[in-house]
Amino acid sequence: MKEKLAEIKNAFTARIAEADTPVAVDNLRVEYLGKKGEITAVLRGMGALSAEERPIVGQIANEVRAYIEGMISEKLAELKEKELEASLVRDTVDVTMPGKKPVNGSFHPLNKVSEEMKELFIGMGYEIAEGPEVEYDYYNFEALNLPEGHPARDTQDTFYITDKILLRTQTSSVQIHVMENKKPPIRIISPGKVYRADNLDATHSPIFHQLEGLVVDKGVTMGDLKGTLEVYAKKMFGENTKIRLRPHHFPFTEPSAEVDVSCWGCGGVGCRICKGEGWIEVLGCGMVHPDVLRRCNIDPDEYSGFAFGIGIERTAMARYGVSDLRQFFENDVRFLEQF
Ligand code: DAH
Repeated sequence: MKEKLAEIKNAFTARIAEADTPVAVDNLRVEYLGKKGEITAVLRGMGALSAEERPIVGQIANEVRAYIEGMISEKLAELKEKELEASLVRDTVDVTMPGKKPVNGSFHPLNKVSEEMKELFIGMGYEIAEGPEVEYDYYNFEALNLPEGHPARDTQDTFYITDKILLRTQTSSVQIHVMENKKPPIRIISPGKVYRADNLDATHSPIFHQLEGLVVDKGVTMGDLKGTLEVYAKKMFGENTKIRLRPHHFPFTEPSAEVDVSCWGCGGVGCRICKGEGWIEVLGCGMVHPDVLRRCNIDPDEYSGFAFGIGIERTAMARYGVSDLRQFFENDVRFLEQF
């Protein structure tokens, strides 16, 4: 039995030297020390020994077992250490490598222009008003002096939902909502989407954006309107910008004008941006028609007001020299990144 124990010890020593994973070491532990293990088998057989031999063999068996246990924990510690070293090499972080830059989005040019306009008018004491995009004919047309059958309706091809309900063709509808709900002094802007049954081309889109402005108070004059628009034009197109009011007709303002700004690209001599005109049309405006005031229970003998409607796409096109309006809606990142 002594020889057997010596054999076991030698065999184990050779095997443990080759074990190179914690699992392999654990298998050896079971094989040698487990219930059906080699050492256990020897201990079981001790009953057959003489009384003198038994303690001697018992002692050797215990020594071999202690040897095996010692070797196993040593080996496990060694493997653990190795694994740690390997992982330190494997998982090294090179802190000198350049970092990954997150991709930053940017404002859409239409939002950018519209935010700037809002900021400007809020700075002048205006409040922001909202109105529905699905609108009654009354607010979009009738209350604005465009009764059924009025020829000026033809200039705004309209998406009708029913005879009386439509997608608003202009933010001017918000003027009526505001005046119905608020007594002067009124000073609001209302940016938003409008819809017209136009085919998409370089200058038309069935959906686009306007920013409406309305001021009603005692003693408001066309001079106030012009001064306000001058501030607006300089802010949006640069300090040297001039404006020009061309007489025009809008049914809900009297007098009415279309407003051009001198081209920022050429200062007025004509270039690609202004298509050789020197001027770029940016908005419509006028003094609120007395009938419109009256319809909203505001006495035109006591109060007067001005209104304006700015095309946001048109402003962004003029501002950035964009010649095709469709680019705003195609959302090609190469285009959007430039703003
Ligand atoms: N609503 C007009 C349009 O879409 C623009 C406009 C003109 C608005 C004159 C106004 C205004 O407030 O006074 O063509």
